[in-house]
Amino acid sequence: MAGRQAGPFLGGRVRRTFGAVTVGCVQGDITSQDDIEAVVNAANPRLESGGGVAGAIHRAAGPGLAEEARPLAPIEPGEAVITGAHGLPNRYVVHTLGPVYGQDRPEAELLAGCYRNSLALAEENGLESIAFPAISTGIFGYPIEEAAHVALGTIKEEADSLEHVRLVRFVLFGEGDLEAHERVLSELE
Ligand code: APR
Repeated sequence: MAGRQAGPFLGGRVRRTFGAVTVGCVQGDITSQDDIEAVVNAANPRLESGGGVAGAIHRAAGPGLAEEARPLAPIEPGEAVITGAHGLPNRYVVHTLGPVYGQDRPEAELLAGCYRNSLALAEENGLESIAFPAISTGIFGYPIEEAAHVALGTIKEEADSLEHVRLVRFVLFGEGDLEAHERVLSELE
């Protein structure tokens, strides 16, 4: 049963509950989610530093993150792997490779895989909270609203099967990206 609630939510404005799982959206930086156990990296196949999210996460975590991740590379679009968080204020980093829009197909299925596989790793590690950036919507070119439908729809589909995860937070960089996610979240049937 899906609940709908507007109002303050750890800095966010809209939240929904799907079964026992609360989903919220905030505007901010994925590297500043101090109250969250795992943050998700919009990774490259080699699990190295990059631009956008990958650059911010590797800079904040320090070189130990790339060292720990190296043996887990390369990963394929839709896959996810987990490491420690090093200098980040979290316990884990989940690294997932989103599809390049218009190139890796079927892109919606691959993007949904990123969210499903990241949640599965959180479950395997008994985590209660995980924060996602909008995977594939930067350098990889996935249109934000289309990506939000896939991302939030996948969380909703998975919610009933989650035994540990109770909080899923989307951390959006821009105001327009936040609004798109809030709109999709509040309209999700
Ligand atoms: N916190 C939260 N969101 C951020 C941050 C941040 N610090 N920096 C960027 N974003 C937003 C972007 O605005 C975009 O909406 O995250 C979304 C994903 O953008 P990218 O990081 O470019 O990720 P993606 O599109 O999946 O491309 C991955 O980019 O950095 C390289 O090496 C990486 O090749 C890989 C590719």
